[in-house]
Amino acid sequence: MAFCKVVHTPEMKEAAKRNKEVINATYKNLEVSDNLKNLAKTRSYFIRTYGCQANVRDEETMAGILEFAGFKKANKIEDANIIILNTCAVRENAEDKVFGEIGQLKGIKRKGDDRIIAVCGCMIQQTHIVDIIQDKFRHVDLLFGTHNIDNILNLIEEVYEKKVRVIDVESKMGEVIENLPTTRIDPYKAFVNIMYGCDKFCTYCIVPYTRGKERSRKMEDILKECQELVDKGYQEITLLGQNVNAYGKDLQDGSSFALLLESVAKLGIPRLRFTTSHPWDFTDEMIDIIAKYDNIMKSIHLPVQSGNDEILRLMGRRYSSEQYKQLVDKMKAKIPNLVLTTDIIVGFPNETYEQFADTLKMVEYVKYDGAFTFIYSPRVGTPAAKMIDNVTMEEKHKRFDELVKTVEKYAIPKAEAYVGKTLKVLVDGTSKKNKEVLSGYSEENKLVHFKGDASLVGKIVKVKIKESHLYSVIGELVNE
Ligand code: 5AD
Ligand code: SF4
Repeated sequence: MAFCKVVHTPEMKEAAKRNKEVINATYKNLEVSDNLKNLAKTRSYFIRTYGCQANVRDEETMAGILEFAGFKKANKIEDANIIILNTCAVRENAEDKVFGEIGQLKGIKRKGDDRIIAVCGCMIQQTHIVDIIQDKFRHVDLLFGTHNIDNILNLIEEVYEKKVRVIDVESKMGEVIENLPTTRIDPYKAFVNIMYGCDKFCTYCIVPYTRGKERSRKMEDILKECQELVDKGYQEITLLGQNVNAYGKDLQDGSSFALLLESVAKLGIPRLRFTTSHPWDFTDEMIDIIAKYDNIMKSIHLPVQSGNDEILRLMGRRYSSEQYKQLVDKMKAKIPNLVLTTDIIVGFPNETYEQFADTLKMVEYVKYDGAFTFIYSPRVGTPAAKMIDNVTMEEKHKRFDELVKTVEKYAIPKAEAYVGKTLKVLVDGTSKKNKEVLSGYSEENKLVHFKGDASLVGKIVKVKIKESHLYSVIGELVNE
């Protein structure tokens, strides 16, 4: 497309602004023009999502809005009239994958067809990325940001009508928009946003710039959504937020994560999970609620990032290694059969081997059931990206390998300990390779494979574990 209509472009400085104002929810009634309804009748969409659950939930909202207008979901990317890449910016390799995919899509457009290629999500909230796409990927027709999702129909209509490339990426603290349609990907397991954005500004992280201010949904709106899921027969709800523990603080109406968690648990959903927790906001009250309700799963993801106090300070994490250990001790004491996982970053700028060794010691101390491990990736516009780094990439890779081995030293025996035990598994579906094999997750969040009939999909069944691997276990269905 030759011309470009720029509504807004991203501004990192604007994105970093914060105030204390309460953000009130907007209850939106979507309207679809007759023109777009006509266009939608014969057209389909396909969304490819990268990154975290927040993006998956955004995909569900976009799908809901597009289907509300009449667009149908295409089975394959190459069949779709509207292709949307929903991107992640958390590390460079996530961005590289997206650039590769955008490049590949160049060949998909035929002369004369009106296929739209759109790119949205966290990557697009960054000024330099929008510049690169504008310069080098001229086949992209639409760029929109994380704050512009509710306006997607108008943007698409504009591309169709004016036949120009449209860029609308706002950098603002963000809103809370309720009532948007949604098409959930899974009929048994649901993600429910309880809050958006992040105010922690860890020095390595791009999220506070791409997703705006920490803002909570009203408890009554969340509970209404959860009740509807219970009524529809959903088996599992995961409450979502960058820092779920900070839930409600901004509302100044007495809501808190502990209160919300208890209220959702009482709705009677068979399984309740939440992610992600920041160690800084984790209260005793929350631990007590988790321990009290059987339907709150006892697997908690508690990112530590580093085990060294100086690195934690430079990361802006707001806790010391001692405080983290005390929190873990308290959780283990109060929550029987607690399963703990974490995120760890290796090779933060100027990290010495001794500082890295403190992270190994933390892994030895906590004995995590599993960990997501990452090599530090500089993110343009974050404070850490301005630090001059004296650690070579080769050294970072060596430390990474050592960390993975240390994590496995504890995670493998923990996985092996499941052998002989009977786990309760929520069945997700049949294996792609073998229709007789079912898979699902146990209460402990362990991936379980076993032989069984497809009629069990969506049910919680008992499986006796026979074999363990690092990332999954294999068992036999227990007939009752
Ligand atoms: N480099 C490497 N890892 C990062 N993470 C966030 N930002 C970066 C970065 N710049 C990791 C953190 C976080 C997880 C989602 O991604 O460990 O918890
Ligand atoms: Fe990023 Fe830190 Fe916020 Fe997590 S808490 S999203 S790591 S800034």
